[in-house]
Amino acid sequence: MNMMQMDEFKLTVPSKPEYVGVIRLTLAAIASRVGFDIEKIEDMKVAVAEACTNAIIHGCHCEHGKNFNIDFVSTEEKLTILVYDDGEGCYLDNIEEPDLTKPKEGGLGIFIIKSLMDDVEIKSEKGKGMMIKMIKYLGDEA
Ligand SMILES: Nc1ncnc2c1ncn2[C@@H]1O[C@H](COP(=O)(O)OP(=O)(O)OP(=O)(O)O)[C@@H](O)[C@H]1O
Ligand SMILES: [Mg+2]
Repeated sequence: MNMMQMDEFKLTVPSKPEYVGVIRLTLAAIASRVGFDIEKIEDMKVAVAEACTNAIIHGCHCEHGKNFNIDFVSTEEKLTILVYDDGEGCYLDNIEEPDLTKPKEGGLGIFIIKSLMDDVEIKSEKGKGMMIKMIKYLGDEA
């Protein structure tokens, strides 16, 4: 049989900014075990921290007692990271591409995630939370 091995880690995380560091460490440990080099691990740490910060600030409004979720799914060829919350979500059409010729505070998180990861998929509807799926390939195929 030629079944690809798939390992899944699931975390439920309190909506507190101080736990983003814990997620970064967890991600680095998993990604290094899977075989990623330092450069790709650093890219993923930045992307995942941005996604978690969004879940905490926009999804959970840092509300006491709220949680959000992270799933790490690894195979021989890629690491998939899902960050999702059950907050208020948003209209994706309202998320503007940043104009990099006019620097401003904020509005860069999703842009950064898209530039650092190989594949990014975002799902959200107003009132139904947000899900962001990020994929990094081990090889150069992406
Ligand atoms: N988990 C989420 N729940 C609800 N809305 C979200 C979520 N994540 C992002 N958004 C919406 O998408 C917008 C763009 O997110 P992005 O991370 O690109 O920028 P930002 O968080 O506003 O600023 P920055 O990340 O640069 O500090 C946010 O302002 C917010 O309106
Ligand atoms: Mg953000």
